[in-house]
Amino acid sequence: MCGIIGVSASTKNVSPIISLGLRRLEYRGYDSVGAALISDGKIMVWKAKGDVQSFLRRFKLEEKEGKTGIGHTRWATHGAPSDVNAHPHLDCSGKIAVVHNGVIRNFAMIKKVLEARGHRIVSETDTELIAHLIEDELPFSSSFFEAFYRAVSRLDGSFAIVALYGEEPNRVYFARMKSPLVLGLGEGLNIVASDIPAIIDHTRRVATLEDGELGWLDDKEVRVFSLTEQGVVEVSREEIRNRIITVDWSFEEANRLGYPHFMLKEIVEQPLAVKNTYDGNVDEPMLSFAASLLLDAKRIIVVGAGTSYHAALALSYYLARTSRLPSLPVISSEHKSAERFVEEGDVVVAISQSGETYDTLEAVRAFKRQGAKAIGITNVVGSALSRETDVVIYMRSGPEIGVAATKTYTSQLMVASLLSLRAAQARGLLLEGEVQELLRRLSLSPEILKAAVSASMKIVGKAPLVGVRSMYVLGRGLGHIISKEAALKIKEIAYVHAESYPAGESKHGPIALVEPGFPVFFVATSDSPEIEGNIMEMAARGARVVVVRPEDLDVHAPEGTELIDMPPAGNDVMLEPYSMMPYFQVLAYVEAVARGYDPDKPRNLAKTVTVE
Ligand code: M6R
Repeated sequence: MCGIIGVSASTKNVSPIISLGLRRLEYRGYDSVGAALISDGKIMVWKAKGDVQSFLRRFKLEEKEGKTGIGHTRWATHGAPSDVNAHPHLDCSGKIAVVHNGVIRNFAMIKKVLEARGHRIVSETDTELIAHLIEDELPFSSSFFEAFYRAVSRLDGSFAIVALYGEEPNRVYFARMKSPLVLGLGEGLNIVASDIPAIIDHTRRVATLEDGELGWLDDKEVRVFSLTEQGVVEVSREEIRNRIITVDWSFEEANRLGYPHFMLKEIVEQPLAVKNTYDGNVDEPMLSFAASLLLDAKRIIVVGAGTSYHAALALSYYLARTSRLPSLPVISSEHKSAERFVEEGDVVVAISQSGETYDTLEAVRAFKRQGAKAIGITNVVGSALSRETDVVIYMRSGPEIGVAATKTYTSQLMVASLLSLRAAQARGLLLEGEVQELLRRLSLSPEILKAAVSASMKIVGKAPLVGVRSMYVLGRGLGHIISKEAALKIKEIAYVHAESYPAGESKHGPIALVEPGFPVFFVATSDSPEIEGNIMEMAARGARVVVVRPEDLDVHAPEGTELIDMPPAGNDVMLEPYSMMPYFQVLAYVEAVARGYDPDKPRNLAKTVTVE
C-alpha cells in the first residue's frame, strides 16, 4: 500500500503539486504522511504520524519552496505508525531521501550488513535501509544513478521507490518492482506517482512503468531503464511514447461532488457505473474472445481477493448455471493450492478492481508459469493486471475512491453475467432470440439498482444494527454469494462482526451461537426456496430474523420476521444481486456514520493492497 509521488518542475514550486497529490493518494494509506523538497541544494523533510489534512495544516507544506520534491502517505508494514517511521527516510549524510511502497523481503539481512558497516538506522522501517544502501553504493559508483540501481538490484520483494539526491537538485529517481508506479508527462514538469489521480490535475499524458524498470526524471525529460542481470539497459523513447495514454476522466468524476463520503457517492453512482459496464462490453470483441478461451479451456480457475473474490464466486456460479462450464474459484492469496495441478490448456480468470492487488497478480503469474492462459477483469486501464493477462475486459465503472468496493462490485457482476452469457452463446446453448432476451433483461439492471439504492436509503432504519456486536448473514446458492459480500461490507465499514455462512450449513455448527435476539439476516434468492426451512430453524431458536428479498420473490417467514422488500428482479438470478446488494452497502454505511466511523477510511485498510 502507501501512496508515493515525486515531481520536478521548471518554473513552479512543486509543494502545491505534492500537497494535492497526497490528498489524492490518501486512500492508499493514511496512518502517517511526509514530504521532502530540495531547496538551495539541501533536502528539507517534514513528516508526522496522522492524516494528510493535519499534516498539511501543521507544516503548511504548500508554502514551502522547491522545484523538486517527493511525498508519501503511509500504510504501515515495518514499524508502527509514528513520526520517526513516517517517510521520507534519509541516509546518514542527509543527502538522500527515499519514499517507498511495498515490502523489502531481505530487510533483516540488509539491516545487519548496513549496521556492520556503520550506518545509523533510526527507524524500524525497511524503507530507511534503501537510503543507506544507496549511500553505501555511492563511493563505488560513477554516478548517483549507478548507486541507485546497484542498491535497487540488491532488494528482494515488492517495491515502488522514489528518491531525491541533494546534489542533483532537479532530479527524481524512481524504481518499480511489483508495486504500482506511473509517469505523468507534462509541459515543464514531470511526475511519478503510485496512481493516476495524483497526476491528472497537472497532465493527462500518463505512461505506466513495468516491473524491473527504474530511471529518473527532471523538469524536461524522463529516462527509463530496465534492470537486467548484466546491468541496466535503456528503454527506448519510442517504447515509452507508445505506452502513453491520455486519461479522459477528470478528478471531478473521482471527487465527492457534495456527498459527505466517497462511499455514499459511489453507492449512488451504481446505476451509471453498471450501465457503462454493460454498454461498454455488450458488443466488446474482447468479451467474446475471452468466452471462446473459456470454451477451449481444459479447466477454468477464477481468482480474486476480498470483494473481487466474491465477484469470482458469482462468475463461477453464472458459468455453471448459464454456460454449464465448471470452474474452480480460488482466493488469490491461496493460489498455491491450485498451482500444483494447473497446466497448459487451463485458463485463469483474474478479477481485480485496481488491477494492482499483489496476491492476485502473483496468482496470475504463478498460473501463467505453469502454462495457463489468463483473462483479466479490471477497472484500471494500464494496470499491471491489464498488461500481464492475455485478454483484458475493462469494467468501466469510473474511478472508485472509497476503500469499500461498491460500484465496482456490481460492475464486476455485470461482466460476470455478460461473459457467461457469451460463453453459453458460443457453446450453442442459447438461440439468438434467447440471447437477445437475456441481454434485454440484463440491461434493466441500472433501473433496478436505482430503485434499490433509493429504497435502501428509506428503509435502512427498519433493521438497524444499533447495539449489535455480532450477527450472521446467511444465504443459499446465489444468496450465499451475496451474503459474503454483505458481511464483508458490515465488518469492514461498521466494524460489526458479521459472519456469512451457507444457510443450509448453519445447522452443522454455527447455530450453536444463536440465542434469543441474536441477529440473523437472510438473503433470499429465487434459486433456493429451501431457505425457508433455515429461516424457521433460526426463528425457532428465538433469533432476530431479518429477511432481505426482492419483493416479487415469495418467501414464507414466521411471524415476527423483519421483511426487507427490495425492488422486483423477476426471479432472475442475474438481476437479484442488483436488487439486494445496495441494502447491505447502505446499511454498513449508515451504521458506520452512526457509530462515528469514517466509512471512506476504515481502520487498518487501504484501497489497493500491494503487499503479500
Ligand atoms: O483491487 P482489487 O479488486 O484487487 O482489491 C481486492 C480487495 O482488496 C478489495 O476487493 C477489498 O476487499 C475491498 N476494497 C473491500 O471493500
